[in-house]
Amino acid sequence: MSDTTDPVADLAALIERVSGNVILPGHYPFLADTAKRRAASLRLGGVPAYVRALALGDLPGEWSCLLPHITIKESFLFRHPQHFAALASTVLPRLGAAHTSRNSLRVWSAGCARGEEPTTLAIVLAECGEVAHGDWRILATDVDEEALAAARAGVFGERAVSQVPAHLRERYFVRRGDSFEVSPEIARRIEYRAANLVNEPLPVEPGSFDVIFLRNVLIYFRPESQRRVAAAIARALTPDGVLFLGPAETLWQLSGDLEPVDLEDCFCYRRTAPRSTHLGDRGPGPGVRGEGAEQRARLRAVPDQGEPLDTQRTTAHPGSPPRDVHGREARTAHGAPPAEASPVPGPRTPDPGLTGTQERLHAAVRSLVEGRIDRAAELLDQVLLADPSDPATHAFEGFLHDVSGRTQMAAASYRAALFLDPGLFQVRLLLADALRRVANEQRAALEYREVMATLAGGRAHAVEALAGLPLPGAEQARQRCRDALLGRSN
Ligand SMILES: C[S@@+](CC[C@H](N)C(=O)[O-])C[C@H]1O[C@@H](n2cnc3c(N)ncnc32)[C@H](O)[C@@H]1O
Repeated sequence: MSDTTDPVADLAALIERVSGNVILPGHYPFLADTAKRRAASLRLGGVPAYVRALALGDLPGEWSCLLPHITIKESFLFRHPQHFAALASTVLPRLGAAHTSRNSLRVWSAGCARGEEPTTLAIVLAECGEVAHGDWRILATDVDEEALAAARAGVFGERAVSQVPAHLRERYFVRRGDSFEVSPEIARRIEYRAANLVNEPLPVEPGSFDVIFLRNVLIYFRPESQRRVAAAIARALTPDGVLFLGPAETLWQLSGDLEPVDLEDCFCYRRTAPRSTHLGDRGPGPGVRGEGAEQRARLRAVPDQGEPLDTQRTTAHPGSPPRDVHGREARTAHGAPPAEASPVPGPRTPDPGLTGTQERLHAAVRSLVEGRIDRAAELLDQVLLADPSDPATHAFEGFLHDVSGRTQMAAASYRAALFLDPGLFQVRLLLADALRRVANEQRAALEYREVMATLAGGRAHAVEALAGLPLPGAEQARQRCRDALLGRSN
């Protein structure tokens, strides 16, 4: 099977083909070690023989042993709490009302790790008056069967439950020594099943899920696989169903299958067509009008002609970012547990002369300033592939959506940037402007106030990497917020 002379690189390629997960060359020593141990336990002659046998399908059951070593299972209950808050306050009440006739609610946690996410979902549903007593069930799937076995046991360690509000921990868990066992009332609502998201067709009924959580899974995939999996997942949603991704996963260059829905503190996605009748664009409520991801408008206007960046400019991420046990960058958003950074290596067809992601981002900014929007988009794709956890990249992604007339997607990207770095006052200002443009005045006002508070509190900093763009400086931002709050157009 050898495509290269390096069996470890071949193994990495095989793993990507089978599971979507990309292993960085920097992690090859770890992979080599794992392969060596697996080869020894199977009494194979060494890594090349192991890789060959695996590729030929001669090792039944071996993928179940190998995948637990290479997939990242970082998770805990109530991770990214803004998703669960939006689910409880907005999504479930609306879906609950819509389902009085259908009488059932189906939720899917895709890439459920050791059960932390589906257990949280079950608790949120059990606590939600509109659905608690109805017929609701959660399907939880993962490619890692060891993780699924742990999930089925329903027992969590201290760290996994540390973010569970005390009264819910009291209500839904029994303490057993250092561990917490989930109550049968929650456990019986969850069905755990093995499923590999890169294998199509997905083993679920099309159009059958009202809510799908697919968080922090695609971040380890290449964009092509991300789009393919996202499209397949979209087909599993009901027409009114919604998909949640990880807060820093924005599906840049989404195909026409999904469009973002603003849930105030976060975004989710829904199928582009047919139009929803329960979330988003009809009637009052926090949802705002979707744009249709297929809408690929031309460069319309740079949203703001501001002053050049001023002396407030600081470096968003001084020094090297911390690394997790896998050697991956682990940036923290204001004390939050680390968000996984992508293991995805640089682009496979790198631009000659452009090596680092920052350099590529600068080139993307220059291209946009020169009006070469397609080139800017191409470079952005490369940067996101290399490091989807950089707030400046998401800010630029938002700017590019914005100048292309995709306001809703711009807002989603700005939120991703702010999730990663809440002090980026220019990005928050752009978010506020975007919200105002889609007539979400109330939310826009909150964001304008937050810009002013961030500036007043000394927590604000500029996006240095985007210095070439016409972004406002601190004083101008303050003035624009004041004008917007007083109803003066800017
Ligand atoms: C970082 S965890 C995310 C857990 C949870 N969704 C969360 O956000 O807390 C990623 C999970 O995706 C699973 N995964 C990776 N590749 C997969 C694939 N091809 N199909 C299904 N699950 C996969 C991993 O086994 C792991 O449990």
